[in-house]
This record gives sequence, C-alpha cells and structure tokens, in this order.
Amino acid sequence: MDISAIASLAPVIPVLTIERQADAVPLARALVRGGLRVLEITLRSGVALEALRAIASEVPDAVVGAGTVLNAHQLDQARKAGARFVVSPGCTHGLATAASASGLPFLPGVQTVSEAMALAERGLTLLKFFPADTAGGVGWLKAVAAPLASLRFCPTGGIGADSAPAYLALTNVACVGGSWVVPRGAVAVQDWPQIERLAAAAAALKRP
Ligand code: 3PG
Repeated sequence: MDISAIASLAPVIPVLTIERQADAVPLARALVRGGLRVLEITLRSGVALEALRAIASEVPDAVVGAGTVLNAHQLDQARKAGARFVVSPGCTHGLATAASASGLPFLPGVQTVSEAMALAERGLTLLKFFPADTAGGVGWLKAVAAPLASLRFCPTGGIGADSAPAYLALTNVACVGGSWVVPRGAVAVQDWPQIERLAAAAAALKRP
C-alpha cells in the first residue's frame, strides 16, 4: 500500500503518544474495533518503539506507523520496529532522501506553499498540513486547492471532533490526523470502551 491507499482506509488517523507499554495493544485494539485501522505512534515517549513493535505483531488489522520522525536514524528505528509508514511534522533533505531509499510510505509535514512545492518535486503528493489549526486551517487548504491542484493533505494539529468535518469536506483533504480520539484521561484509567466509542464516531465521519 502506498501512502494514499493507507490514507483512504479511514477518515481519521489517531495520533498516539503511548506512555505505558501495557496500554499499547489494548489501545490499538479498541481503535481498530471502533473502525480506525491506521494508527500513528509518535516517537515522543520512551516506549514508543516497543509499543509500535507490539502493535505491529499483535494487532494484525492495524496499519501502524511512526510519527514525529525527525531524521534518518529514527526512520530506520521505526522501520525495524515494524512501522508500515512514517509521518514527520516537517521535512528535511536528509529525511526525504532516507524515506525514499527505505521504500516506506511517507507522510511529510508542510506548513507553506514552498515546502509543499519542494516535496511535490520529489513526487510526494500527499502531505501532512501541520500544525493545521494555527497555520491557517480550512482557509489555507481552500486557498491552495487551485494552485496546488495535484496535492492532497492530511491536516493535523489542533483538530477535534467539532472541527474535523469541515476539513474532511474539502476535496484536497484525504483524511485528518489528531489525538482527540485518545484522551489522556481515558488511557490513564484504561477506559477502552470510551476510546472505541470515540473511534467509531471518528470512523463514521464522511469524506466527499
Ligand atoms: C502530531 O504530532 O501530529 C500532533 O501532536 C497531533 O496534534 P493534536 O494533538 O493537536 O491532535
């Protein structure tokens, strides 16, 4: 599956920052039960790679990737842990080159038209728009739809259940990312049914 095929699997990619290894598999299972199969595990906690490895081997219906990948070394670590795609908040020449060499589906972050054009020159046509809410939100995406007609976006950052539908209504939005389906409080008390309900509501969001 390329990154577009992965993005088409569900309207929302939950962004998970897992702090306790024991949460990884039940959390992933709750999200998959709710209908969200594509999971981004950020490399922002000490157990992130171990969590990724556990989900990759124990939750076969999940398509698990690594997020907050900042450099070639982290990309390699993510690949070895079983990541099926990688996401970055921005992009550098070194990271784009490493992602291309790895063959892993790659969702690099952009915040400006020039960044999007530079990645389009490398053949990357689905980009993470980050941080979506503070970088222009729905208005930015509408404004770039005509000039960047060959590009599609996964806006992420500051999006919640209330704002997600407006993003998903845009024709240049493939899916949205966000952590709202995984509230810290629910994970802390291992309230998996609540997470499953939030995932089901997110999975039911319509795309054009
Ligand atoms: C990310 O890493 O993509 C963001 O932290 C997700 O943003 P959110 O927590 O505002 O949804």
